[in-house]
Amino acid sequence: MYRSHTCGELRLQDKGKQVQLAGWVQTIRKYGAITFVDLRDRYGVTQLLFGESINAQLDRTPVGREFVLQITGTVIERSNKNAQLSTGDIEIDVHQYSILNRAAVPPFTIQDDTDGGDDLRMKYRFLDLRRNSARQNLELRYAVNRAARNYLHQQNFLDIETPFLIKSTPEGARDFVVPSRMNPGQFYALPQSPQTFKQLLMVSGYDRYYQIVKCFRDEALRADRQPEFTQIDCEMSFVEQEDILNMFEGLIKHIFQEVKGIAYTAPVERMTWEEAMWKFGNDKPDIRFDIPILNLKKPASVFPDCTDQRSLIEGASFGVFDEAEAVLAISIPGAAKFTRKQTDELTEWIKRPQIGMKGLATIRYNADGTCKSSIDKFYSEEKRKAIALAAGANPGDLILIVAGAEERTRKAISELRLEMGQRLGLRKPNEYKLLWVLDFPLFVYDEEGNRWVARHHPFTAPKPAQIQTMIENNPTIEDAANYLQHPYASIKANAYDMVLNGNEIGGGSIRIFQRELQEKMFEALGLSREEQQHKFGFLLGAFEYGAPPHGGIAFGFDRLCALLGGSESIRDFIAFPKNNAGRDVMLDAPATIDEIQLKELQIQTAVKNS
Ligand code: AMO
Repeated sequence: MYRSHTCGELRLQDKGKQVQLAGWVQTIRKYGAITFVDLRDRYGVTQLLFGESINAQLDRTPVGREFVLQITGTVIERSNKNAQLSTGDIEIDVHQYSILNRAAVPPFTIQDDTDGGDDLRMKYRFLDLRRNSARQNLELRYAVNRAARNYLHQQNFLDIETPFLIKSTPEGARDFVVPSRMNPGQFYALPQSPQTFKQLLMVSGYDRYYQIVKCFRDEALRADRQPEFTQIDCEMSFVEQEDILNMFEGLIKHIFQEVKGIAYTAPVERMTWEEAMWKFGNDKPDIRFDIPILNLKKPASVFPDCTDQRSLIEGASFGVFDEAEAVLAISIPGAAKFTRKQTDELTEWIKRPQIGMKGLATIRYNADGTCKSSIDKFYSEEKRKAIALAAGANPGDLILIVAGAEERTRKAISELRLEMGQRLGLRKPNEYKLLWVLDFPLFVYDEEGNRWVARHHPFTAPKPAQIQTMIENNPTIEDAANYLQHPYASIKANAYDMVLNGNEIGGGSIRIFQRELQEKMFEALGLSREEQQHKFGFLLGAFEYGAPPHGGIAFGFDRLCALLGGSESIRDFIAFPKNNAGRDVMLDAPATIDEIQLKELQIQTAVKNS
């Protein structure tokens, strides 16, 4: 037996017990004839006392940091208690010890505030994972996993595995591909998601499916994106959108309760995609704080429901606003007192290449009711006040206005809104606000290819009332400049995203389940009959054998964990993540393969093997 207890287990009531512990040496502190060693394992740290009788042996056979040590000793009360440590009331008077394994000096200190940089820690991730914070993150991940499984099991979902070596599933990214030795010149694709399989399982009658599953996407990486990541992937038959929203609101609330002890009793707020874009400038708004965007320019035709506020800025001969496609404003509570230096800094912030705007106009709605602005030359006090009021400002607020090309300006104001929310402490780390974003457009227009692409994926159903529009109209876009006039631009999908504190944590849709409509969808996306057959013949065929109405959703498991753990980066919640260049720096992968393997696979590469 290596150990009788773990390093996190012993308390004062164990005083006098003979125990055996095993673990890693965290620290060694020598005081004359005695030595203290902190012994660590997954469960905690226990202080070991090497008294005078054994200290001489320790001098002959010293231990070092991260050595694997086994000891036998007696639990004694500590004279100098440590309230920070769960085992802080006791220590072990060591009678015997043996070194189970030695350790090289670790390249960074294995403690919470480590001196190891990101790259170094990733290279030695197995050491990094010994740190408390890393361990807590993996524990949280497991807790989320357990809570999800429990909930879905209770709701009669069946966990069914689906293959990894498949044919391409379009989720909007590039595929990772795997060559087949037995089928020279042919490749499997790794699944971007199990989308088509879960739909086939519905055709097979497994009306509630789930899987916590790896997905692979070759796409630009960010803090919340990894090339391989995990989804809680779910599908249900005989459901409408409302059934799905209710079921999965339940899942997330259950996870909140189990993992964070938070009773999220309020119904999850809902917003159409159009409203999200119009009011918050993006499709995953952070609704923890209420700073909506005011549109001061012609409403873009994609947002027919917006209020037209053009009269507020028109006729002032201010070229910047007159010529801009979009003029958007937000009102920042209590910020009228910002100094000139502070507003100048915000102007610089918005001009940074990542944001890329030319400038920032400001209106101070002072506490005394007056309005001073950087555009006083063009707008009277009365107009300035009218803009402030339209932006929902109160005396004491600062109105920030950006103008420029529609998409860039919308993005910029949305970033500015988040930045100001952050600076003013309105994005509280311990507050969680869920939101359903509904009614996404079915298609987006791809300018480069002058064609429609699926906003979500090609299996998403249009709103029933718009199926006719899709069937009756030809997808060809005659006039690229006016693509918004095409009937397809206004078709909305039965698709929904779940957003948590400004992050998309899940997305799904009600699916097409009739062959004819699926064929029409593929045709709309520019796939010929032959391509449809080649790529998705299996699914089209399956739809002929009694496909039930169905729909589903997938949650980004890593993202959910990161958000519940209070981090922006999903890497912290993945045991062995890749870096931003998609590399595993510990394995040094991807790597070249040897000539023999290439030959067997009948592959020639343009890049020379090094
Ligand atoms: P979607 O593509 O929206 O939907 O993905 C679902 C969720 O997965 C997460 N996610 C990612 N997380 C980390 N790294 C990535 N590269 C990454 N890409 C996506 C996001 C996202 O909300 N088959 C559909 C689901 C369905 O229709 O049922 C799908 O995969 O949190």
